[in-house]
Amino acid sequence: MFKLGLPKLFKKKPKSAAKEKGKKAVPLPSKKQGMAKPESVSVPAAPPSISLKEKEFLPVRVSKFDSLIEKGGIERGNTLLVAGGCGTGKSTFAMQSIYHGVEKGEKGVYLSFEEPVEKLRRHMKVNYGWDLYKYEKQGNLALLMLDPFKIARSVEASVMEKNGELMVDVEQLDIPFVPDRVVVDSLSALSIAFMGNVENYRYYIRHLFEKLDEFNSVNFVISETEMDPGVYSRSGIEEFLSDGVIVLYNLREGKKRERALEVLKLRCSDHVKKLVPYSITKYGITIKTTKGIMLEALSQNLVKSSGSKHHGSRSELPKPPLEGFP
Ligand SMILES: Nc1ncnc2c1ncn2[C@@H]1O[C@H](COP(=O)(O)OP(=O)(O)OP(=O)(O)O)[C@@H](O)[C@H]1O
Ligand SMILES: [Mg+2]
Repeated sequence: MFKLGLPKLFKKKPKSAAKEKGKKAVPLPSKKQGMAKPESVSVPAAPPSISLKEKEFLPVRVSKFDSLIEKGGIERGNTLLVAGGCGTGKSTFAMQSIYHGVEKGEKGVYLSFEEPVEKLRRHMKVNYGWDLYKYEKQGNLALLMLDPFKIARSVEASVMEKNGELMVDVEQLDIPFVPDRVVVDSLSALSIAFMGNVENYRYYIRHLFEKLDEFNSVNFVISETEMDPGVYSRSGIEEFLSDGVIVLYNLREGKKRERALEVLKLRCSDHVKKLVPYSITKYGITIKTTKGIMLEALSQNLVKSSGSKHHGSRSELPKPPLEGFP
């Protein structure tokens, strides 16, 4: 059984120690100022060198999902938000990707803020026949249950007020191997534990996203939304921090509901921009696409611009639409 030492997940360190490792303590927005703005913007004299060497793309391996992406997978080091209403299959989608990855010899980590590990193992086995324990024993899969309330308390304790700015240092996530895929299930459960302290929560997840980037894995962070969402996360900034957003819908049509998913944004590749129907069966998520759906999308892009909304970048975070948590 793997254990995650909570203090190691998010621990206050002496300032000097953070500097030694070349890490910077990022200032939180002060309570009065809202989002912190840089005092001055420095422009390099010479254009920065951009490495055009492509990073490896990992297939998502969830039914035909990869056929919706031009590159056929997700670039390593990218974090995708999987958003959707309750019971739309967010956990199934993420676990299916990890499970079929470990079957191919990859390593996966599932960080659960909601479901105890035992329950997760049982549900995945009973619902879809996925034997998680087999791969845990082999050391290729780690299921870790984290207490979001402990994390929230730990963050609160480690926040220090300095010159009107809140400062926090975060330790590395303490996981037992270098993963190819990481799932965080879910940010919604984590945000509830922060009990309205939006600043601490936003600050924590910014660091969490930065840590996930460092693994060079493909990461899925789950967010629970309304059934037909206009906002894809509780604090409204997760979709801007993410490199991609996948939305799962369970839309009501008369007396029945239809499941459909959408790749709302993807920084690493072009992708299909329409709703694609899916179902949940004893094999997990089954996506119903037509042959050549990606080619069709690409040819449409030649004549008209993408219909997907621009969701900014990490360096240009907009003011989140929600001021507090419900
Ligand atoms: N074997 C199966 N056959 C068909 N549908 C199934 C099967 N197993 C689970 N489901 C469906 O999957 C849904 C749960 O999927 P999952 O737990 O992945 O959703 P979720 O979006 O993570 O839910 P939550 O909001 O509770 O976290 C169930 O509500 C059920 O409709
Ligand atoms: Mg779930």
